[in-house]
Amino acid sequence: MQISPSILSADFGHLEQEINMVNESRATMVHLDVMDGVFVPNISFGFPVIKTVAKYSTKPLDVHLMIVNPQNYISQVRDSGAAIMNIHQEACTHLHRTVQAIKAAGMKAAVTLNPSTPVLMLEDIITDLDMALIMSVNPGFGGQAFIPNAVNKVRQLRELITRSGSKALIQVDGGVNLSTGKLLAEAGADVLVAGNSVFNSGNPINAISELSDL
Ligand code: DX5
Ligand code: ZN
Repeated sequence: MQISPSILSADFGHLEQEINMVNESRATMVHLDVMDGVFVPNISFGFPVIKTVAKYSTKPLDVHLMIVNPQNYISQVRDSGAAIMNIHQEACTHLHRTVQAIKAAGMKAAVTLNPSTPVLMLEDIITDLDMALIMSVNPGFGGQAFIPNAVNKVRQLRELITRSGSKALIQVDGGVNLSTGKLLAEAGADVLVAGNSVFNSGNPINAISELSDL
């Protein structure tokens, strides 16, 4: 299982050390949650923090944009050091155009679905995607409880990917720990995002390792 630790739960006073921990761990990417206070009821961080993480990280940056009009920020996201630009289906009217523009800018393209958005909304874009993200909490905050229906959605997405011949990875974000992660692994997830269960554990390197073994 690939693990993408969410630095939303990291200690921002010691960001360099937190990124060094991720570098030394079995994580395959690092997850950055950008929130605008419009698409979600919270504000997190923006380009200066992404650039700082890029400076210290040896792992690819997986940037999850919980913002309206993500199509307006493609070059800034790329120039900040993102390897994957992840946008919400609900935030983007012209999703196909924006996905092509993300790839033309040299990044991998990922699309995220909120808990209430059905998997079928990806049906006509799935073959263009490098990754699809199923939210297993309502986006906006770390440390929330896992919504069990996400497991069904992972199964449906796995079926869509197989049927369409898409190479997209399945990522899941929100409330991931060893027990919810096991259900997601069985359902066909490829990448788990984990914030609270990594950074607020006594031993983050070990927490990442245990999740990687799922
Ligand atoms: C939620 C964010 C998540 C969050 C996950 O809006 O997209 O990435 O950091 O945190 P945990 O793992 O604590 O639910
Ligand atoms: Zn996220």
